[in-house]
Amino acid sequence: MTSRIVPVHPFDLVIFGATGDLAHRKIFPALYHRFCDRQFGTDSRIIGTSRRAMSVDAFRATVREALEQFASTTDQADGLREFLTIVDYVAVDGRGDEGWADLKAHLDAHAQEVRAFYLATAPDLFGDIAAKLGARGLASPLARIIVEKPIGADSASANAINDRIGAVFAERQIFRIDHYLGKETVQNLMALRFANILLEPLWNSNYIDHVQITVAETLGVEGRKAYYDHAGALRDMVQNHILQLLCLVAMEPPASLDADAVRDEKLKVLRSLDPIDETNAATLTVRGQYRAGASNGASVPGYLEDCGDPASTTETFVAIKAGISNWRWTGVPFYLRTGKRLSERVSEIVIVFRHVPHFLFKGVSGRLFDNRLTIRLQPDEGIKLWLTIKEPGPGGIRLQHVPLDMSFAEAFAGPTPEAYERLLMDVIRGNATLFMRRDEVEAAWRWIDPIRNAWSLSVEPPRPYVAGSWGPAASVALIERDGRTWNEDVA
Ligand code: BG6
Repeated sequence: MTSRIVPVHPFDLVIFGATGDLAHRKIFPALYHRFCDRQFGTDSRIIGTSRRAMSVDAFRATVREALEQFASTTDQADGLREFLTIVDYVAVDGRGDEGWADLKAHLDAHAQEVRAFYLATAPDLFGDIAAKLGARGLASPLARIIVEKPIGADSASANAINDRIGAVFAERQIFRIDHYLGKETVQNLMALRFANILLEPLWNSNYIDHVQITVAETLGVEGRKAYYDHAGALRDMVQNHILQLLCLVAMEPPASLDADAVRDEKLKVLRSLDPIDETNAATLTVRGQYRAGASNGASVPGYLEDCGDPASTTETFVAIKAGISNWRWTGVPFYLRTGKRLSERVSEIVIVFRHVPHFLFKGVSGRLFDNRLTIRLQPDEGIKLWLTIKEPGPGGIRLQHVPLDMSFAEAFAGPTPEAYERLLMDVIRGNATLFMRRDEVEAAWRWIDPIRNAWSLSVEPPRPYVAGSWGPAASVALIERDGRTWNEDVA
């Protein structure tokens, strides 16, 4: 089975921060892949901007280099040459006045097309650039603006950024990217829940014991120490990616796939999260920081060395026991954890069902297992439903725990598009379902802020863990205290 490509209308995409890491690693490769699949053609334009004066040819050379390094298919020399012909460059100062008239002249030539402004810059430039786009008359009715997380560092700063963007663009024109929402399996979660009759009747506190969401990375902070040391794992991963996953697991069925219908339901979940503050943070959260150890077979330094500040108390690991107080979920803990320099790169959601009410098989070989539904985001995307069966063969009943296993790689031929590919094409189509609405971002911060505040009041620093482990022992204790275990024991 292969995917169907639905071409989008011609567009102009302006990338601010076009010489940066995000543009090179993610945005250009995503556009290039969509171009090679003919989802758009040479009647669209990609205009890179940054403050640096540079010729178009010099800029194209940087894009070519980035594609050679980060795109999965650059072997089609003709495709690459053709793609580079639609790449243009204008030097623009996001804060100053230089370059804006030039950019306007470029865009006026295609005044009737959809135009999208991708702000791949530091978030403190978002407000200024949005204001300039407004003042210079670039925010046409068909314009869209794309911003990346982190949107702010807390509720107050997020509100300020959203106000400034909102002063120029209507909410329907603002696309806040959380690239986790563009991942194939994340969208499959919606299909799994709402296109099948089997699961939804069981999807509540009567049948579900608890939920685990793990986003584990083997990487450290790489080249991003300045950003990361300020952000930490709670802001970098939990406020956005993990809470978005939690919303998709926990939300009520929306009335339609319309962007606002879906986002209304996610918002209700965020608003139903039980508060965590200085009264309960010590029992419901664990923060950790990696020390020297090994990653992928090589020795690696600890975080304090990586970030260059021996006194840093930034967390590189978080585990949280979250609760949702509503009709469906009261009493079902959601155990969340994420960290850098962990033992494996794995992102998964595990739904652990309750035991059967009466266990008939006492005295037979084998024990009572949990039914588990494992939704693997990466690597090896797929879904496993763990069931208990009788081990085949003579000799009486022996119980065994086996998965109904659906690997997406095996079931569907061809590579699945990267999250950014899907999200960028959705921006051009004007479909905001997979983007965060302002009130969602703000509700997420309102839950996160008191946790940060509680940590800042605590005298205990983050707990150390050895790079290459599964995080601090306290994270194991967080779940085992409740008689449960993290999922890594079920391979
Ligand atoms: C980003 C975070 O949003 O997500 C990074 O800023 C993190 O710190 C990354 O490494 C993880 O994304 P993925 O798609 O590799 O799981």
